[in-house]
Amino acid sequence: MRSVRRLECTNSVEKVSNVVSEKEGSQSWVKRKRLAVFVSGGGSNFRSINQACIEGSVNGDVVVLVTNKHACGGAQYASDKGIPVILFPKTKDEPGGLSSDDLVKVLRGFEVDFILLAGYLKLIPLELIRAYPRSIFNIHPSLLPAFGGKGYYGMKVHKAVIASGARYSGPTIHFVDEQYDTGRILAQKVVPVLANDTAEELAARVLQEEHKLYVEVTAALCEDRIVWREDGVPLIRSKENPEEYY
Ligand code: GRF
Repeated sequence: MRSVRRLECTNSVEKVSNVVSEKEGSQSWVKRKRLAVFVSGGGSNFRSINQACIEGSVNGDVVVLVTNKHACGGAQYASDKGIPVILFPKTKDEPGGLSSDDLVKVLRGFEVDFILLAGYLKLIPLELIRAYPRSIFNIHPSLLPAFGGKGYYGMKVHKAVIASGARYSGPTIHFVDEQYDTGRILAQKVVPVLANDTAEELAARVLQEEHKLYVEVTAALCEDRIVWREDGVPLIRSKENPEEYY
């Protein structure tokens, strides 16, 4: 029997030395993960992730929802499902919102392993990024690094893609750092841009793929299948074939 040493998989709570025996080739038991999802709008990505957790394709649970808009569709859905809703940040419109330090304390209290941004429009504060290294993710509706950064959100992204003449677009899931859309890319899916597309039509086609991609990536996260290449690029180890990465 030969052991193959691979790359390392890290998150905020543990450092897993990813050594797989070729003979056994099987993963050891993996703790069920606790997820926080952040939304500002309808929360269709949040719903599909929560559904996948309930149905069992994700080895985790959404234990708390964070929003800057208490009346948004995502917050409503969470309340209906009995998922606690936290307001962040504190603003004129939302005076009941938490400070950054309190948010970190609350998330620690919920024993959150990973934070998934799903249409959350506020910048993530440094306190949170420091408290959850390599554990915060975002989905963006274009193939980053194109059409990302401050001001590229919602239909603006899709309008810019169409105006550029790009023939392909699609969602990107990336690690979150202190700026908009600049963290390491973890996963992407290509979606064609059609000759007569409106921004709304392209957005709908991309959103369908977002739902699938975010569930696949969350499943990988919750099974400790994220690995880091020596140059700092994160990869996802295939579940079917542990020799393959994507
Ligand atoms: C998605 O297009 C996502 O890529 C972007 O915000 C949108 C959120 O949609 N970051 P929903 O609230 O999940 O429906």
